[in-house]
Amino acid sequence: MTSQIDHLLSENRRFAPPEEFARGAVAQADLYDAAAADREAFWGRQAKDLLTWAEPFSEVLDWSNPPFARWFADGRLNVAYNCLDRHVEAGNGDRVALLWEGEPGDSRAVTYAELTDEVKRVANVLTELGVDAGDRVAVYLPMIPEAIAAMLAVARLGAIHSVVFGGFSADSLRARIDDAGAKVVITADGGYRKGKVSPLKPAVDMALADRGGQGPQATVEHVLVVRRGQNEVEWTPGRDIWWHEAVPAASAEHTAQAFDAENPLFILYTSGTTGKPKGIQHTSGGYLTQAAYTHRNVFDLHPETDVYWCTADVGWITGHTYVTYGPLANGATQVLYEGTPDTPHPGRWWEIIQKYGVTIFYTAPTAIRSFMKIGRQVPQGFDLSSLRLLGSVGEPINPEAWVWYREVIGGGSTPIVDTWWQTETGAIMISALPGVTETKPGSAQVPLPGITVDVVDDAGAHVGNDAGGLLVVTEPWPSMLRGIWGDPERFVETYWEKFSDKGFYFAGDGARRDEDGDIWLLGRVDDVMNVSGHRLSTAEIESALVAHEATAEAAVVGASDETTGQAVVAFVIIKQSYLDKHSPDGLAQALRAWVSEQIGPIARPRDVYIVGELPKTRSGKIMRRLLRDVAEGREVGDTTTLADTAVMSVISAQVR
Ligand code: WT7
Repeated sequence: MTSQIDHLLSENRRFAPPEEFARGAVAQADLYDAAAADREAFWGRQAKDLLTWAEPFSEVLDWSNPPFARWFADGRLNVAYNCLDRHVEAGNGDRVALLWEGEPGDSRAVTYAELTDEVKRVANVLTELGVDAGDRVAVYLPMIPEAIAAMLAVARLGAIHSVVFGGFSADSLRARIDDAGAKVVITADGGYRKGKVSPLKPAVDMALADRGGQGPQATVEHVLVVRRGQNEVEWTPGRDIWWHEAVPAASAEHTAQAFDAENPLFILYTSGTTGKPKGIQHTSGGYLTQAAYTHRNVFDLHPETDVYWCTADVGWITGHTYVTYGPLANGATQVLYEGTPDTPHPGRWWEIIQKYGVTIFYTAPTAIRSFMKIGRQVPQGFDLSSLRLLGSVGEPINPEAWVWYREVIGGGSTPIVDTWWQTETGAIMISALPGVTETKPGSAQVPLPGITVDVVDDAGAHVGNDAGGLLVVTEPWPSMLRGIWGDPERFVETYWEKFSDKGFYFAGDGARRDEDGDIWLLGRVDDVMNVSGHRLSTAEIESALVAHEATAEAAVVGASDETTGQAVVAFVIIKQSYLDKHSPDGLAQALRAWVSEQIGPIARPRDVYIVGELPKTRSGKIMRRLLRDVAEGREVGDTTTLADTAVMSVISAQVR
């Protein structure tokens, strides 16, 4: 870490916004002054200006029972109405909402009027299926327009969606369905990935299969199935319904009812430090306010002329806030792409930018680094001159990747916004404003107007410039998580206990302020890994590994990786009976495949090392720090607190 930090701090390139961009920018420097003058009044204004309320709110923030915040609590609105109907009513029904591109090359343009119509029909179908306000609906879909329609239809009814990334396994899906008590699952037969159909419905069938009395019955009553992959699927009559039969047959009349601003909007599961994913809960008015505000100001959105593209899947928070809610609340035109960046050729993304004239592009550092590896000749084969703003999210972006992104993709002139936030924060918290901030490659820099963060020491004291510590949010913000589904204690314990005397939100990230006070994010300080911008828990992968019959014990660490940021590296002790019969290579392969099946391909370890022992303290705690040294090929650090100090040399020898 130290060498990485030194390297970051020697970065001193600066990029001022192009003059013309600055002049026409949505967000000007006075936005900071407005927020600083009266933060709550500022958010109240954003909520009124950006959203349409069925009933106005009289109070901006109720923080009388921290850490349980209530924003705009006596206001009422319908989230889907804000993303759809009001644009049609304003005469923009013919504006394209979605420029959808399927992986095989099929495409569809969906206008705001068409999407509104579709969402009304889906809402009517869901009502038929018994979905009411407050009910949970799981969404397990590929990146197709129906995914967005499904989310908005659930929101329209005041129900709660739980989108599960299509790359998650049947087991992971079932765990999320059970935790939320979902009544309906919306899925597809399959979707295109890497040139072939990746089936989804079979995973839903497996997830919902009767477990012969083992554990509770699934709560799901109906499965609504979009036909996309044309792959064979099994059918459970009475439970399963085809989207293409039910939705077109339903009425397109549906009046959106208003719900309280604090009505739950969605649950989204994310990894924490334990083996069990947390259901992060978000609500309506505050979430949508900050989603719209950040999307407009950070991405400098001019909805009449911009073509925006965020490459995230709706299965992640980035897809929720910057594919579904932010852009649609703002009436944007956006690209939605189903597939992988390199199918059928490595220039697919650049081809899409050229085809649709994308002006604003938002992606993750891991993608940028993998394009860097392929070489600039690929993007240089396409016309990317429509781009005027680039964004980055998910993990720290190394200055080399930042500069490459600007030079090769941004033609050497586009501003880059490096946006720090989390599933829990709901929307962007730290970022440059593209027409205002002089940007520094590798630094997320400054909190947005209306957001207050700090870098503090273990006791919660401000560290000052040129010093490192922990990132905290010092005051509540509109799109903050309202809790962990079914577990208020874990909510308090995870985020609020560490700095309870100060009332700070503990983000779990290390950070540093440079000599100007700008913030540099340095990665997680807990047992959470960040692999390709996706959050994975060491404990969750360890419990998958020990669930395999060959495994006696396992320890997982996140090791730095040139492309994916971090990679999953597992150290596993195998039972003697298996060691006698199988080769270490065969066992390592089998365990990698096992984790992929149990959790999903994103969790598959890059390396599995079969070892004889694990480094433990006298109290039995595994010292992951030492394993990380081995995984990253470094000299092993201080081992004096180990119960057996010889263990590490044995492990190092076994790994080599
Ligand atoms: C964690 C949150 C926010 C959407 C995608 C990830 C890391 C996120 C940045 C950034 C440095 C970043 C943090 C954070 N992270 N963006 N711009 N610079 N680190 O959401 O899965 O909830 O993960 O991602 O470590 O805590 P998530």
